[in-house]
Amino acid sequence: MVLMDMLKESADYIRNMAGDMKIDLAIVLGSGLGDIADEIQDATVIDYHDIPHFPVSTVPGHKGRLVIGSLEGHNVMCMQGRFHYYEGYSMADVVYPVRVMKILGIDSLFLTNAAGCVNRSWKPGDLMIIEDHIKLIADSPLRGLNPDELGPRFFDMSRAYDKTLIGVAEAEADKLGINIRKGVYMLFTGPAFETPAEVRFARTAGADAVGMSTVPEAIAASHMGMHTLGISCLTNMAAGILDQPLNHEEVLETGERVKKDFSALVRGIVRNWPVLF
Ligand code: HPA
Repeated sequence: MVLMDMLKESADYIRNMAGDMKIDLAIVLGSGLGDIADEIQDATVIDYHDIPHFPVSTVPGHKGRLVIGSLEGHNVMCMQGRFHYYEGYSMADVVYPVRVMKILGIDSLFLTNAAGCVNRSWKPGDLMIIEDHIKLIADSPLRGLNPDELGPRFFDMSRAYDKTLIGVAEAEADKLGINIRKGVYMLFTGPAFETPAEVRFARTAGADAVGMSTVPEAIAASHMGMHTLGISCLTNMAAGILDQPLNHEEVLETGERVKKDFSALVRGIVRNWPVLF
C-alpha cells in the first residue's frame, strides 16, 4: 500500500473515533512528561495499537496512545508516547504520526522531550526552548522517494522552530517565573547515552542539549510546512560533566520533579497558541 493511502486510513480511523473537529495543535509528550494528557477534557483516547498502520511504542514511561480533546480553550491531539529510531523503527516510521496529523488538517506541532544538559552553566530540571537542532547522523525521514503530496524534495530548515511560538513560550515562562533556557538540541540515536567525548564534541559543535528524539519529527513537520515549537526538559547533566553514571531512572525522576512547572508552562503556551495561518 502506498504511503498516502496508509496515512489517509490512519486519519480516517482517528476522525471516526474523535469526531470531525478542527484540531488546533498536536502535542508530543516526551519521557516522563506524559501526565499532562490526563488534563485534557472531553477526551477521546485511542491506543496506537488500534490505529491502522501506526507503529507501537516499546519504552517504559511511554504510554502509546492518542488523547484528543480540549485543553486551555483549544482542541488538541496529544501523543502520549512517541516512536524512537533506537527502537528499530525507520525514520519514516518515527515521523508517521506527524504525517497523519497533517492529513487531519493540523498545522501546528508542539514537541517535548527529556534531554541531557550539555551547557555547563545550566542544571538538571531546567527547561529549554529549542531554537535550532543538529542532526549529524546520516539518516533522514525524507531519505528515499519524496512524498510530493506532503512537501517538496528540497526544503528550508532555517525556520524549523517557529519564532512566534518561541516568543509565546518565552512570554509564558516569564509570567510563571520559570527561568527558561533557549538553545540547540543535538540528536544522537541512542539507546546508549552519549560518551563523555561525544558530549564534549556536541558542546564544541554548538549544542546545549543532547537527546534521542524530536529532530525527525521537526524535519517532517518542516517538510509539510507545519509550525513547530520544541521544549526540552533537561533531566540530567550529559555524560562526563558530573562524576557519576547516567541512568533512565534519573531521567524519569527529574521529569517527575519538574512536572508541575512543565505542566503549567505547557498549559500557558497552549492557552496563548496563536493562529498562524
Ligand atoms: N542523552 C540522550 N538522551 C537523553 C539524555 C541524555 O543524557 N537524558 C534524557 N534523554
